[in-house]
Amino acid sequence: MDKEKMFGTLVRKVGAMLRSEQSNRSKLEMICRLLKYNIPEYDWVGFYLVDPDKNKELILGPFIGTQTEHVRIPFGRGICGRAADLKETVLISDVSLENDYLSCNPNVKSEIVVPIFKDNRLVGELDIDSHESSAFTEKDERFLERICEYASELI
Ligand code: SME
Repeated sequence: MDKEKMFGTLVRKVGAMLRSEQSNRSKLEMICRLLKYNIPEYDWVGFYLVDPDKNKELILGPFIGTQTEHVRIPFGRGICGRAADLKETVLISDVSLENDYLSCNPNVKSEIVVPIFKDNRLVGELDIDSHESSAFTEKDERFLERICEYASELI
């Protein structure tokens, strides 16, 4: 299946899954699984959630991929913290060119971080790493923004 068809299929699957009987956390995990195992260049897929008890800090939520030491990330640190500060999608084609990149795996070459909003408030982010450089395009960005609209209902 070509990638754009896969994007359409995944949007429909995620939309259908929202109506299932599982917990919100299980549904977020399922989104990670659906993305990682259907799109070959998505190697690490996870959510960071805005910690309601801390001022401007992200905490690692459900994810699929290797363990990461970056369990808490203050706004403004790393690519995730940058997206939280800017409140917009950050797409990095070559992580080796970024001074503030926080590495969790030396194989990662590119990354995209998409913010998740609820009532215009930032509540989390979807973070995806790839072992390919320039793995993400504007099409990925638009697709992932749709997925994040669904994820917003689960946070
Ligand atoms: N690379 C991210 C940190 C998250 S781990 O990659 C999962 C960053 O620079 O913020």
